[in-house]
Amino acid sequence: MKSTLLYLLGLILLATLTVQQTHAQTYQDVKQILISKCAVCHKSTDGEAPFPLETYQDFKKRSKMVKEVIQTSFMPPWMPNPHYQDFANNRQLSSTEKEMIIKWIDSGAPEGKNKVKRQVAASAPLLTDRKPDLTLKIDKPFIVKGNNKERFVLFRVPFEMLEENTIEGVEFYSNNKKVVHHVNYMFTSIPDISMDLKAGDPYIDNAEETDLKKLMQYEPYQTNPIFYTGWVPGASVEYYPQDFGWTLPKRGVVVFTVHYSATATDEQSVVGVNLYFKKKPAKRQVRIISLGSGGIGERDIYPRFVIPPNQVSTFSLKIRTPEDQSLLYVWPHMHYLGKDFLAFAVTAQNDTIPLIHIPNWNFEWQEMYRMKKLVKIPAGSTINIVGTYDNTANNPQNPNSPPKQVYSTGNMTAKDEMLTFLLIYAPYQEGDENVSLE
Ligand code: HEC
Repeated sequence: MKSTLLYLLGLILLATLTVQQTHAQTYQDVKQILISKCAVCHKSTDGEAPFPLETYQDFKKRSKMVKEVIQTSFMPPWMPNPHYQDFANNRQLSSTEKEMIIKWIDSGAPEGKNKVKRQVAASAPLLTDRKPDLTLKIDKPFIVKGNNKERFVLFRVPFEMLEENTIEGVEFYSNNKKVVHHVNYMFTSIPDISMDLKAGDPYIDNAEETDLKKLMQYEPYQTNPIFYTGWVPGASVEYYPQDFGWTLPKRGVVVFTVHYSATATDEQSVVGVNLYFKKKPAKRQVRIISLGSGGIGERDIYPRFVIPPNQVSTFSLKIRTPEDQSLLYVWPHMHYLGKDFLAFAVTAQNDTIPLIHIPNWNFEWQEMYRMKKLVKIPAGSTINIVGTYDNTANNPQNPNSPPKQVYSTGNMTAKDEMLTFLLIYAPYQEGDENVSLE
């Protein structure tokens, strides 16, 4: 009896699937996918991609190109190998979605009749329809000179409030994202009211030469941050579920380190951060830790982190976890010589916990990867980080021609190299494995 029922159900399912497949695709059928998977970056205002893909006309006009980038999986960009570890913010198209779009384009990309209302791209799926509670941004737009040079600029943004706040979400803000290559920013508490939060230059343009004396001005704002994070094209809100969050102090400074892309024309840029508050103080404080270059275990990278020219070489780092931890995000980082990034934990019982594998590292496409569910790393586990670097002339991204020996000088310019792995985590509590971040 049961099996007959199942059989019938199966038949019905098959029938509906077949109906769907033979039905000619119109824009109405693929609109939701295209908007949610493409328009997040391809926006007409402050988008980070070179042209908008928001309306039927936008897609129709470039349909040939759209087909090509979807077929080759160049778009939407997604670097990690999902078979090793998959993430909540995976933006790849499923094979069914790909098929639907390609079919639609092959049939001439018709618009279709029953127009579905225009949908907006959700850039912050977990905090949709919420306005930020606080935006901290620079006062005056910075002019990015159109001299075709990339530049690193540091900005300091002071803040002073009546009370502390618990952070539920952090979102990089910019009026003009396409000139921003990537950003790191850190929050530092300055309770000492004798310290003037506005002392020194409002920004330091590091483009031409590193001026150490100038940089020293910001040292008090950078030595002991309470939290730091970053933004890369495509990244949306960093979000903490349930009781998780971190505490923004009453008084302090945010320092933004902005890597601007080279541009041919002068561009205005305002940078800042949107903060979303939680109603209740977080019972579970999230922390960020940086392993490798510029962080813990910098000197333990094996072999010594000096990348010889004209060869492909691999470096690794092992760091022990002192306490049971629950991972929310992982954030791998290398520069232009990066080729392959792998991270996993090995427990004291010798079980392997895969964390992330990026088989074709690309400096242009970096990201903070949000776990689907919290991942427990038991105390005594070893985090293994393995980075492979291509310092040959075959690497089109190699900044040196001919290739030169490269190492980490600590001032984090793109010509340096790094092997860094950042983790956002909280101390583990029973049941965390079931906490979803999707
Ligand atoms: C994470 C942000 C992001 C998402 C999501 C994204 N794009 Fe892009 N796209 C970009 C950026 C940035 C570029 C410019 C890349 C470059 O020049 O290397 C680009 C370039 C392109 C190009 C031009 C390629 C070329 O060869 O010049 C096409 C076409 C395109 N995207 C289509 C799409 C489609 C279709 C989707 C959705 C299925 C999509 N993109 C999703 C950021 C994004």
